[in-house]
Amino acid sequence: MSTEAKLHIDHVTKTFQARGAGQSLVAVQDVNLEIQDGEFLVIVGPSGCGKSTLLDILSGLTLPSSGEVLIDGKPITGPGPDRGIVFQQYALLPWRTAAENLEFGLEATGVAKTERRERALEHLELVGLADFADSYPHQLSGGMKQRVAIARSLATDPELLIMDEPFGALDALTRDALQTQLRAIWKRTGKTIVFVTHGIDEAVYLGQRVAVMSARPGRIKALVDIPAWDDAEAAEVRADPEFGRSSQVVWEQLRDEIATSQGFSATRPEPGRAGARRVGRTRELEEAGSVA
Ligand SMILES: Nc1ncnc2c1ncn2[C@@H]1O[C@H](COP(=O)(O)OP(=O)(O)OP(=O)(O)O)[C@@H](O)[C@H]1O
Ligand SMILES: [Mg+2]
Repeated sequence: MSTEAKLHIDHVTKTFQARGAGQSLVAVQDVNLEIQDGEFLVIVGPSGCGKSTLLDILSGLTLPSSGEVLIDGKPITGPGPDRGIVFQQYALLPWRTAAENLEFGLEATGVAKTERRERALEHLELVGLADFADSYPHQLSGGMKQRVAIARSLATDPELLIMDEPFGALDALTRDALQTQLRAIWKRTGKTIVFVTHGIDEAVYLGQRVAVMSARPGRIKALVDIPAWDDAEAAEVRADPEFGRSSQVVWEQLRDEIATSQGFSATRPEPGRAGARRVGRTRELEEAGSVA
């Protein structure tokens, strides 16, 4: 084990007890991963492969069934101020202004009132929303709300930023703009970021490494190193031939996993499963090979 790793994910498995006696579902299986201080790691994988479950474990919202996660050498046993979380849904308090939403997160960590205000304004400025400190969430666009959520997660100065499809609900243009902005924030703050997405473009633009997870039970199937892009708009970086090559590598790793998770395989036909459609968790359980 390297001692410098910011995050050390060590043989992490998560099994859920499903509805019905004796049934269990392996969501994440034997995941091992080291994430360095200041690294931007992106995780991709088919829907239902256990990405959010893994992030929940890093957040401390869920405990692993076996294995452990160390942050700065210490086991994660619950949520903590050393980790900031951004979900797909903004989860802002509607009755509080943008600044008050940030202050709320700081209250829990015992920061004095005047400093809370200062820190809130400073972080709204970081995401370009200094002029909207007194706006309520309903007065902000989706992209602005997500920028408030990002500012809130950074305001407590966490060691690790955990982001689960944070731009998934936004339109393509807003998403591009926020990707560029997040990269700039990452460079400026030097935070360690673990980011889940469904978008290969987004993964290759943002990540220094892209971890591809297998179909459930989710394992780390491949780790793809991504070249360091020049400071440029997302659209310019995408025009780089190296960008196309990296995207292709990620896609090749992902393709079979998506096919498997959909119940068919493009390269390895499984006649019994062809055409099977997943409709909700119950059906999934009946079909899944990992159900005990
Ligand atoms: N609390 C829970 N109880 C039982 N099963 C769960 C629970 N949470 C997740 N699961 C199951 O674990 C598996 C992984 O779910 P998870 O949400 O981690 O997938 P995901 O990779 O984030 O998917 P998506 O890309 O659709 O967000 C799924 O089969 C899901 O049904
Ligand atoms: Mg998810």
